[in-house]
Amino acid sequence: MFYEPKKNNHGLSHDPFKSCVVPRPIGWISTIGADGVANLAPYSQFQNLTFDPPYVMFAANQKTDGHRKDSVVNAEQSGEFVHNMVTYDLREAMNLTAQQVPPEVDEFELAGLAKAPSRLVKAPRVANSPVHFECRYHLTVRLPGSSMMGAVDIVIGEVIGIHIKDEFIQPDGKLNILKIRPIARLGYYDYTSIESVFEMIIPGSDEKVRLGMEGKRK
Ligand SMILES: Cc1cc2nc3c(=O)[nH]c(=O)nc-3n(C[C@H](O)[C@H](O)[C@H](O)COP(=O)(O)O)c2cc1C
Repeated sequence: MFYEPKKNNHGLSHDPFKSCVVPRPIGWISTIGADGVANLAPYSQFQNLTFDPPYVMFAANQKTDGHRKDSVVNAEQSGEFVHNMVTYDLREAMNLTAQQVPPEVDEFELAGLAKAPSRLVKAPRVANSPVHFECRYHLTVRLPGSSMMGAVDIVIGEVIGIHIKDEFIQPDGKLNILKIRPIARLGYYDYTSIESVFEMIIPGSDEKVRLGMEGKRK
């Protein structure tokens, strides 16, 4: 089949676009509002952009009423945000924090999640998450949308501090991803969790290229 998104002429009962970009990691973004209230929300339009130094981004579509999402407003106003990795064990809590509630509501409390203080930023961390990125806000890129909800704020931040729970670090210095069991978003309301890992090395690559792929510094 072929269709043009602008014409929405896929003829299927569900829009297939998001099912064609899978699996998507979930940025679970915590921030602090100007009133001091903590905010937490999942964003599966989330990625690392580079690694030296590391930058990440999350893309927040506007609310149905045309307002920008709380995570965007807070990240811009406070100049910081935190990403908390979502695991299979945290899936229900993550889902609770996706409810569109007013900024005065603290989604940590809504989902019964304990907070842990950050070291370099004021936004709290999800205590039970195995990995956290403390981020300094860098830039918002705004893309126009066909609808109010289609307009999107792409928030980019530099990762200035990384927490990893020791129990998930293997003796060989790599993370034990199968033990962490991160979840990722598919299309619709579908998710997946990482239950298998395989390794492939680029043939013929020289040592410098391999170091980059392996995440090592010169
Ligand atoms: C797994 C998951 C992924 C989501 N990804 C996005 C996303 O990438 N962009 C977005 O605008 N909303 C996304 N949402 C919806 C937001 O989490 C929701 O609108 C939330 O209320 C935003 O909260 P905030 O206004 O406090 O930032 C997602 C929801 C779930 C459950």
